[in-house]
Amino acid sequence: MRFLFEKPIFGYTVGVFLVVLVTGILLSVLIGDYLVLAAVLVIQFIVLLLFIIHLYESVLKPIKKATKTVDEIVKGNYRARFHHPSTDSIGQLSTKINALARNLNELTIQEQMQAEQLSTIIENTQSGLVLIDAKGYIHFVNRKFLVMFGQTTNDFQGHLYYDVLHNEVIHETVQKTFLYERNIKEEFTHYKGLDKYYIEIVGAPIFDERNLLKGAVLVLYDITELKKLELMRKDFVANVSHELKTPITSIKGFAETLLDNPMKDLERNKEFLEIIYNESHRLQLLIQDLLILSRLEKENHQLVLSTFTMHELVDEVIPVIHQKFADKGLTFDKSVEESLQLTADKEKVKQIIINLIDNAINYTPEQGHIYLRIMEQGNKALIEVEDTGIGIEKKALPRIFERFYRVDKARSRNTGGTGLGLAIVKHIVEVHDGTIDIESEINKGTKIMVSLPMNKDDKAQ
Ligand SMILES: Nc1ncnc2c1ncn2[C@@H]1O[C@H](COP(=O)(O)OP(=O)(O)OP(=O)(O)O)[C@@H](O)[C@H]1O
Ligand SMILES: [Mg+2]
Repeated sequence: MRFLFEKPIFGYTVGVFLVVLVTGILLSVLIGDYLVLAAVLVIQFIVLLLFIIHLYESVLKPIKKATKTVDEIVKGNYRARFHHPSTDSIGQLSTKINALARNLNELTIQEQMQAEQLSTIIENTQSGLVLIDAKGYIHFVNRKFLVMFGQTTNDFQGHLYYDVLHNEVIHETVQKTFLYERNIKEEFTHYKGLDKYYIEIVGAPIFDERNLLKGAVLVLYDITELKKLELMRKDFVANVSHELKTPITSIKGFAETLLDNPMKDLERNKEFLEIIYNESHRLQLLIQDLLILSRLEKENHQLVLSTFTMHELVDEVIPVIHQKFADKGLTFDKSVEESLQLTADKEKVKQIIINLIDNAINYTPEQGHIYLRIMEQGNKALIEVEDTGIGIEKKALPRIFERFYRVDKARSRNTGGTGLGLAIVKHIVEVHDGTIDIESEINKGTKIMVSLPMNKDDKAQ
């Protein structure tokens, strides 16, 4: 019954009935014939009812439907549509509501896309990002930040920065950013397990439209590689200076002695001149090696490619070092695959073999053996130089290819070494896209294996 009263058409019918009733009472004064009066009232009732039904169906019902659609749109359902077939004002209303819903839908899609793009950028950027509000609460940390500092988003988000970020420099950066309201840049070291990282942190204030401080964003860059390079450059400059200083001091000292006491003791003078000559020769070798290294390191280093057999190359190398074997009483064995052909920079490959055999000679005591093996392996040429020398201790192996690194400084200097030989070998191997490996045992010997692609055509031009 209640349901019936809730129906609007029922209300209208009751309204019409009341109007007819009032009209009936008024007309009863004028019309005496009750039959005619009843007929007039019935006709009036039917006409009014039909009119009201028509009004309800053509105006009120569509307006109700339109209101429902707008309600849906307000709730965020931009797919809601309202269809009305006619071209009257209700029809126009339906077209406009639908257009509005369509536009809002497109806008939302665009907004969603932009938000997704932004979040993809923020999540995949190579810098750590932290968003802090004016009260010091963390609102956002990105993936890179979590990679840097470990833990999960929930360990940071919603917490006060000084409760969860345990680093004095970060605290200082946030405080200064809030205090001075400008970008603040600092650096700190961070340990993750045993690894040490260098981090640069930039605090940038965020302002609202009234220019009031709203919070700050922290950007954290991992500058470990950069720091390492800087350290390497500093080390290199220090090492070069040190290496140059020794021979120059000795040249200057002996030259001064000669200048102070000229021509007195010819035998001694000759001895001094020989020292000066040897030291200047050492200087020359050092500078030559440095130049070779710097040329190899150039970004657009170009190889002079040619095709040659390894046999022919070894035949050119042996005479250069033969005397050294003989002087030290070392035996030398070689096995070179006859037909092995290589397309590479011949002079540089020669340099690899000379440097490796030179080391084998220098670090193998008298009566030792040295082997040179060159063979084909897949589409690579494998060059092995093995000796029965003093060997290299395990902990020194990873550093052996560093510039100026020598296991035993005094011994290496006595051999006239500059400590650049293996660094040069490694660089040549790298520019040929090859690999280098080392096996060594103290007092047993050392084996160095270089693998070079047989065809290095792609580096040509
Ligand atoms: N076959 C080897 N046996 C033992 N130690 C070696 C051998 N080859 C290299 N080393 C060690 O590695 C260090 C670096 O070798 P590298 O060839 O780079 O320099 P170097 O021989 O000292 O000087 P140079 O620049 O004249 O070659 C050497 O000082 C030596 O301590
Ligand atoms: Mg050497």
